[in-house]
Amino acid sequence: MRIDVALTPGMAPPADPGRDVVVIDVLRATSTIVTALDAGADGVVPEGSIEEAAVRARAEGALLGGEREGLAPPGYDLGNSPRDYDRARCAGRRVVLSTTNGTQAVRIARGGRRVLAAALLNAEATLRALRAGGATDVLLLCAGSRGQVAADDVAAAGCLAGGLLGGGGRPTDAARVAIALFDAWRHDLQGLLRRSVSGGRLLSIGLGSDIEDCARLDALPLAVELDPDGVFRKAGARHGA
Ligand code: MLT
Repeated sequence: MRIDVALTPGMAPPADPGRDVVVIDVLRATSTIVTALDAGADGVVPEGSIEEAAVRARAEGALLGGEREGLAPPGYDLGNSPRDYDRARCAGRRVVLSTTNGTQAVRIARGGRRVLAAALLNAEATLRALRAGGATDVLLLCAGSRGQVAADDVAAAGCLAGGLLGGGGRPTDAARVAIALFDAWRHDLQGLLRRSVSGGRLLSIGLGSDIEDCARLDALPLAVELDPDGVFRKAGARHGA
């Protein structure tokens, strides 16, 4: 298996229909997507612009969530804190989400054989889904922060790359860098997240509790996949698997 990491979306190679792409935005978009689906959301729609997300959510009667500068845009139901996406709010509901980096990275991921969303929260479940799906070429796509490398995303990519390597694989140098970062911090992921550019931003607006929530390795058992209709769902849910 070939294992590559795009440290930022700008470093991603052109789309390849033979490649599985895993979008990673630990702080916080993919952590939020995974949490909402675990809480019973019927699907999460990633939207680029805050206006388009609002129009779509209204048309579908969906919950509208996301952030700009870390906070919910005016008129939004929810921000981008995973803990807000609980069962009481999400069960049976569609969520439309628009964020600064994470939902934008999804656009770049499209065109892969499969597109998954992963975070530290569901790393092991994502590994299982990749293996079960017979992946032979995997790109771990870090959403980064405004075009810059974000250590939270690279660490999660390293966790996944290391797991895939265990099953036999050919890592690129970028994958080796990510694995080294994860290995250096695996016993203090919260510490790494707090020091990351995204973590610093959350701390500066009083959302440090999101860092604790997002640092919980393998806390949630589900893999998440973008279906052909552009909606993230639990992997296998569409086909009843
Ligand atoms: C993003 O997608 O840009 C991040 O999730 C940012 C955030 O949550 O504040």
